[in-house]
Amino acid sequence: MPLLQVVLSQVLSWRCLCQVLFVVGTGLAAVVAAWTARLLVRHAWFMHRLSCFSKPPANSWILGHLGQMRSTEEGLLDVDELVQTYKHSCSWFLGPFYHLVRLFHPDYVKPLLMAPGTMTAHHFPSADFNLHPRLHLYPPNIPGHSLLLSNGEEWSRKRRLLTPAFHFDILKNYVAIFNTSTDTMHEKWRRLVAEGTTNIEMFDQVILMTLDSLLKCAFSYNSNCQQSTSEYVSAIVELSDLIIDRRQRILHHCDWIYWKTEQGKRFKKALSIVHRFTREVVQKRRALISQQGATETGSTIAPQRKKDFVDIILLSKDEDGQGLTDEEIQAEANTFMFAGHDTTASAICWTLYNLARHDHYQEKCRQEVMELMQGRDEHKVEEDLSSLPFTTMCIRESLRLHAPVQAVTRRYTQDMALPGGCTVPTGAICLVSIYGTHHNPDVWTNPHDFDPLRFDPTNKEGLASHAFIPFSSGPRNCIGQKFALAELRVVVALTLLRFRLSPGVNPELGGSVRGVRRLPQLVLRAEGGLWLQVEPLNQQEDT
Ligand code: HEM
Repeated sequence: MPLLQVVLSQVLSWRCLCQVLFVVGTGLAAVVAAWTARLLVRHAWFMHRLSCFSKPPANSWILGHLGQMRSTEEGLLDVDELVQTYKHSCSWFLGPFYHLVRLFHPDYVKPLLMAPGTMTAHHFPSADFNLHPRLHLYPPNIPGHSLLLSNGEEWSRKRRLLTPAFHFDILKNYVAIFNTSTDTMHEKWRRLVAEGTTNIEMFDQVILMTLDSLLKCAFSYNSNCQQSTSEYVSAIVELSDLIIDRRQRILHHCDWIYWKTEQGKRFKKALSIVHRFTREVVQKRRALISQQGATETGSTIAPQRKKDFVDIILLSKDEDGQGLTDEEIQAEANTFMFAGHDTTASAICWTLYNLARHDHYQEKCRQEVMELMQGRDEHKVEEDLSSLPFTTMCIRESLRLHAPVQAVTRRYTQDMALPGGCTVPTGAICLVSIYGTHHNPDVWTNPHDFDPLRFDPTNKEGLASHAFIPFSSGPRNCIGQKFALAELRVVVALTLLRFRLSPGVNPELGGSVRGVRRLPQLVLRAEGGLWLQVEPLNQQEDT
């Protein structure tokens, strides 16, 4: 009898357990089925709404174009092919998750970029996986986003508060800084040449120089980073490298895994260096300003020091007299550092590269710069940068041919009508291809040629509106574009004045001067670096 009881209770408890498992299993299966059904219905709905756009062949009905976007030279050639075939736009989907419209014609790009900022949401698919490089700019544990990542009212307020930092009068102060940082870089080049190295990789050199300038402009901080190692600058460079590395490793997309990896630990360490640095600068500066009894206009800022970004942002107030908090200022200062250094460095490197490849344009620019400098005792470019019209045309043409930022992404809070009766439905991602628009043969004659005369203001044909969008356009365009253009002009002018440039040799390619392979990462770079030969000019005069 007791034996029977034991057996019965065993059976009953097993049955009980099985029942529990069955209920839990069925519940889970129902949740997964409901989630999948919702995903598929959403997918079908987007496919229907986007059917007015041409759809390039996909891998499968469910995976779509997943894995077809490549961050390589071939990836850029793929975009050329898309533009040739589809002329203005096409739709694209990445599994049933992301539905994109890719746009590469000014007429299609314009209504999207010009839409009011408040109905535009920046969309970074990478942000969903914490992969966006600018995502960690806020001090840890502080909710909120920097200008680049915020939307709606939060974005509007921040944009208003930050705009004064890029006012023309403020930018004038920075020109002297650009000159000094360029001088330092050129001294390094001369030293290398004296040691017998004339073949120089540009990105390594120019990134340090743009960081040097930005640190002086943003924080009045002389890092000396071009001559010796700076902890902060190394941290910024490391963060950018780690973001690219993380994107390429699918398992690292999961935070839980990533923070346990060696790379994740390095990322955290570098991030804490960046946050500690900006926190200290902002706190010290606020204390200094209140010590000096600064008025709202900032008129009592120590006369011997010119205002930097941090001063201006600290003193900036909205209509209600509210300024940004210390944490918000830290995040914005970090944004300027991240958004401003590699983009500008990319633009400078590719401009020098294009001039190195086109000797006659290089010579014409040099003549223009020499005329501007005539009678000046020092090699200093001043605020009269607009007096370099041909050099500016070359810079613009380089920004077209080798745009540092390849594309911007947006989502809209309402349906967006496009030419030809097509509509981008709410929630779809718009991928505005700057590269595609700049290389569209419907818009540009011989789009792959470097021809600065396209930007000649006397050119009767003129440029179509939104054909040239290296800084994007509309309310969410680049806030730092005047800053970047001023720096570009100073660096290009001084470089041409002091050096003759010719195409260099990538040592990895075994001595071939041909075959620069573009590398579209966070910004446009070159595989194995961008190498140029530099030959000093007028050495006696300069030393
Ligand atoms: C040649 C250099 C540069 C290029 C090509 C460039 C390009 C761009 C582009 C295409 C955008 C739009 C991004 C988007 O919509 O997703 C943008 C936004 C932005 N850029 Fe730049 N940029 C450059 C230099 C700078 C500099 C020097 C700074 C600051 C010092 C800066 C700060 C920003 C910020 C804060 C935004 C976000 C603006 C907003 O959302 O309201 N950029 N930039």
